[in-house]
Amino acid sequence: MLQTAPIGVFDSGYGGLTVLSELRKQLPEYDFIYLGDNARAPYGNRSYDVVYDFALEAVNFLFSKGSPLVIIACNTASAKALRSIQQNDLPKISLEKRVLGVIRPSTEEIGALTHTKHVGILGTTGTIQSGSYEIELKKFAPEITVTQHACPMWVPLIENNRHNSIAGKMFIDEDVKALMEKDPLIDAIVLACTHYPVIKSHIQEILGSNVNVIAQGPIVAEKLVDYLSRHSEMEKMLSKNGTIRYFTTENKHVFDEKASQFLEEKIRSEHVEITN
Ligand code: DGL
Repeated sequence: MLQTAPIGVFDSGYGGLTVLSELRKQLPEYDFIYLGDNARAPYGNRSYDVVYDFALEAVNFLFSKGSPLVIIACNTASAKALRSIQQNDLPKISLEKRVLGVIRPSTEEIGALTHTKHVGILGTTGTIQSGSYEIELKKFAPEITVTQHACPMWVPLIENNRHNSIAGKMFIDEDVKALMEKDPLIDAIVLACTHYPVIKSHIQEILGSNVNVIAQGPIVAEKLVDYLSRHSEMEKMLSKNGTIRYFTTENKHVFDEKASQFLEEKIRSEHVEITN
């Protein structure tokens, strides 16, 4: 009988939970394993080499748990490590396993979400510096003018639950306004960091209803549904009992408390060391 196993989902910290919750909504029958590398988050300001090493360790951990399919639910790791893992590491690890990211699915959809064809990208310093969104958008919607802005304070604010403080809101306001000043014609903004949906309503409040603020979770989930419908060889390898297991490289009690706030449900995680 064919061995089946859960879909692996990985992020530097809690952000990937915003993607995971959409995956669970659209694929409720599947099993998932989530890994947050919270002990080493944030990844946003780290170099290519470091993000690549960390992401590969995370992917290998999820593979070691049997996952045939891993979603890197982190833009920074998708921008800095995904291609190397897909092209250089995966062929050596397994010819059957797959690793997918969050940038390509998002850029495939953005063209349909703007009228002015002026799109803003908000992300970590690493994601913005990589230019990944501009590069991918050129392929799918070359008519779009892309303006980017890095928000290095946002992940630490969210990870530390300070995003609703007066100071936290000040940082958020400042960055949103800085992006709009660069291009006032922007009518769609991609939250190109999986942590940012937590502050989506605040960002929408600043911008008003004329700007479409886009969270990636629903798009990534839709694209995965489509991917599985086209790849029956992968679909058959996935287990379907509707379960979820959480792993963190941090203290599990700290993870449980914060992850429970993120997902608004009680989480019980397991601690894991993933360094070689
Ligand atoms: N959620 C990650 C992303 O989408 C956060 C990166 C970080 O750890 O700084 O980019």
